[in-house]
Amino acid sequence: MTDANINNLTNELLDQPAPPCVMVIFGAAGDLTKRLLIPALYNLARAGLLPKEFAVVGVARAQMSNDEFRAKLSQDIQKFATVPVDAQLWEKFQQRLYYLAGEFEDTNTYSDLENLLAHVDQEAGTQGNYLYYLATSPNFFSNIIWQLGASGLSREEHGHWRRVIIEKPFGHDLDSARALNKNISSVLAENQIYRIDHYLGKETVQNILVFRFGNGLYEPIWNHRYIDHIQITVAEKVGVEGRGGFYEGTGAVRDMVQNHLFQLLSMIAMEPPVSFEADAVRDEKSKLLKSIQPLTPEDVLTHTVRGQYGKGTIDGSTVPGYRSEPRVAPDSTTETYAALKLNIDNWRWAGVPFYLRTGKHLTQRVTEVAIQFKRVPSLLFRQTSIDCLTPNFLVLRIQPNEGISFQFGAKIPGPTVRMGAVEMDFCYADYFGATPSTGYETLLYDCMIGDATLFQRADNVELGWSVVTPILDVWKALPPRNFPNYAAGSWGPKEADELLARDGRQWRAIAEG
Ligand code: BG6
Repeated sequence: MTDANINNLTNELLDQPAPPCVMVIFGAAGDLTKRLLIPALYNLARAGLLPKEFAVVGVARAQMSNDEFRAKLSQDIQKFATVPVDAQLWEKFQQRLYYLAGEFEDTNTYSDLENLLAHVDQEAGTQGNYLYYLATSPNFFSNIIWQLGASGLSREEHGHWRRVIIEKPFGHDLDSARALNKNISSVLAENQIYRIDHYLGKETVQNILVFRFGNGLYEPIWNHRYIDHIQITVAEKVGVEGRGGFYEGTGAVRDMVQNHLFQLLSMIAMEPPVSFEADAVRDEKSKLLKSIQPLTPEDVLTHTVRGQYGKGTIDGSTVPGYRSEPRVAPDSTTETYAALKLNIDNWRWAGVPFYLRTGKHLTQRVTEVAIQFKRVPSLLFRQTSIDCLTPNFLVLRIQPNEGISFQFGAKIPGPTVRMGAVEMDFCYADYFGATPSTGYETLLYDCMIGDATLFQRADNVELGWSVVTPILDVWKALPPRNFPNYAAGSWGPKEADELLARDGRQWRAIAEG
């Protein structure tokens, strides 16, 4: 496609600015606000997608005036913006930042907030539309929402809207997720609740649906007749990065599998939705999660692997093992790595295993979905020197080096018939240029326009928890005896290789990026 074509396409699809609104951030003094939320709002402003009538109200415990809040974020944006900051644009933007100091559990905070919002509505013309963003520790979620309800701040009337974005983790297990859903749904209607999973803000994750359903070539072969198995890898090079206290009670399954990996799995494996309406897409995701064969305790022993990193080498430097990280118990049994084999009990995926793996302090940072197609019968090549045909792999590279590649076998030039693996490769950056973003832009914009397609519905979250609960239960009952069982900087425990080897398969060798 030429640049002109791409421009035409994007111009046609240009979005309109969101409606007037105030974004109220609970936990505004924290990391998320300065690193991601404000840079994302700034990018939206730059793209002309924020309305002129827009404001941010930060709420947190720290005592700060509006001016101090503005000054702090003006400094932070220089560090965290994904593009060079335009002084004029930022100047206008920062005038619309307000701050309220208060305890999240104190009723007075909400009466003060009501007064401040009335003032902001007057000053900025935001028309009583409020987007509340809960960027706090999860133990405040229920109470903040209850307070919003009790103070009338979540009530939608006179044509204005009130929506709440809830950060992860959404619950700690199935029971706590159910309890949280119950609490918040006693105050808010489901269409006011936006449960965020930042993986859905990634362009390449959204592209999975466009790739599958916008091209005629793939859907006919997207099933058990042609696909041998699917591998989903979310490998991180970083360790727990000072978040030991949080991670100790969490582990890789809760932190990554139940949410991010299951989002990738749902999008790869779900049936085509009847439309891209939020509920049509979320219905299909729920159907898919419901079709995952529940793991019995015996299955957990044979279909799952857990690991914890020990001391090792990353980028040439020695890094400590997980148990030596700050605020981590010296005998911690928390998993920093998990691999699972899941079967999906439906017509499309009968007999096609899905292998999922994620871990911290692995060899490299890479998120990809690799689809291995079935081999052809090899009888034609019996008389040649080819003893093993190259499997066809379609790889969706989510990050970094975003793109799609297809691996197939080609004849190696020469008088004898020999075959080598070659690749056709598409890189996002080659076609669309680099688009530096935080990944939160689309999610914030979608919430402002009331599109919940990229957010999780209550049943999606609970179904995810239902799948992992048997794993967590068995793992809790049988503490690991071999931790740490992989070195930082490696590809994880050898048991994860054995998981596939037992099925005559292996993890795709991912080249160093
Ligand atoms: C977060 C997890 O949800 O996702 C972190 O809590 C993890 O532990 C992060 O590092 C990974 O996100 P990304 O976008 O860097 O792949």
